[in-house]
Amino acid sequence: MFSPVCPVDVRVLAPEAAKAAVRGWLQEPARLLVLTSPRRSAALNLAAFFVQLQGDGHAVQLYGDIPPNPSVTDVAALLTRLQAQAFLPTAILAIGGGSCIDLGKAVAALAPLLPAPSTDAVRRAIESKAFAQGGQAIPLFAMPTTSGTGSEVTRWATIWDPEQRRKLSVDHADGFPKAAAVVPEWTLGMDAGLTLSTGLDALSHAMEAFWAVARNPLSQELALAAVRKVVHALPVALREPNDLAARQALCLGSVMAGLAFSQTRTTACHSMSYPLTMLRGVPHGYAAALTLGSVMRRNAKAVPDMHRLEALFDDAEGFDAWMEDTTRGVQEMRLSAFGVTQAELPIICQLAFTAGRMDNNPIVFTEDEVMAILTENL
Ligand SMILES: [Fe+2]
Repeated sequence: MFSPVCPVDVRVLAPEAAKAAVRGWLQEPARLLVLTSPRRSAALNLAAFFVQLQGDGHAVQLYGDIPPNPSVTDVAALLTRLQAQAFLPTAILAIGGGSCIDLGKAVAALAPLLPAPSTDAVRRAIESKAFAQGGQAIPLFAMPTTSGTGSEVTRWATIWDPEQRRKLSVDHADGFPKAAAVVPEWTLGMDAGLTLSTGLDALSHAMEAFWAVARNPLSQELALAAVRKVVHALPVALREPNDLAARQALCLGSVMAGLAFSQTRTTACHSMSYPLTMLRGVPHGYAAALTLGSVMRRNAKAVPDMHRLEALFDDAEGFDAWMEDTTRGVQEMRLSAFGVTQAELPIICQLAFTAGRMDNNPIVFTEDEVMAILTENL
């Protein structure tokens, strides 16, 4: 039994058509909060678009302080600023990568609820899922500028709590963006590091959706289609950053992977990734992908059709060879390459068990097994 749900109006469009789509989605005059970094806005030439939005009758407020891996403090800072300006948005447009879209989701869920938005109030609201009851989330529109996160088609946002060394999730049924315009042209020329880390995030979403306990026939087909696209297109995009066909395939692969794991959630690899990102700042996509091979090998014992996933790497002579060939010269895929030491493995292991992720793995690993996986990837 499965009931696929994706209420997001997703369109893959060329830049001008994407801007026109956003203007069409925003029919009523809105108090529109636009989240995008000034660098991104300049690179994508968005100034004229913002003028158009104002011309359409929207009150546009730009917010450009988009941190990587947004924290409860970052969310509180943005909410406090909105409050100081007496600007409660009626719509949010997030133009950026996963961190930007997740920040947008958090603000969409929390802004109507928090009259005094301190870090602690944000933390407590996320923990208590206060936003889930009200049904007052502000409509969010997403224009992803990387191809990996899948956040444009999921109902949750990752918000970090470094003080308490944990990852929180803003997660509720109304958490989906209202609509998303995906623009492959915006990913042309992306540097190799970001192309690789985001592409590996999409690959991890797809592979983990394939073997998740919560897998279903539809999520598995979506996952296989996504893996096929990433496996072929990621090496091409790394060699030829301006190859539009490869960028289109990565964008589609990322959306498909997002759709797959929006139904299943992720598993052991993402669960182990969180302390790597929190304690060592390992970029999210690398952190998730570092353990993919080790986890796939172990999970094969519990997933009878794993050969269908493994076969997608046959042309490259297997997953490990594909990973090595694809990442060579860009990022060494070992924990030590990110500064992780043997001495840190026990604390990483201790923080690697996220409920709903590790127990969504077809083999629920023990601490010893997680230590073994981390050690073989050191
Ligand atoms: Fe991810």
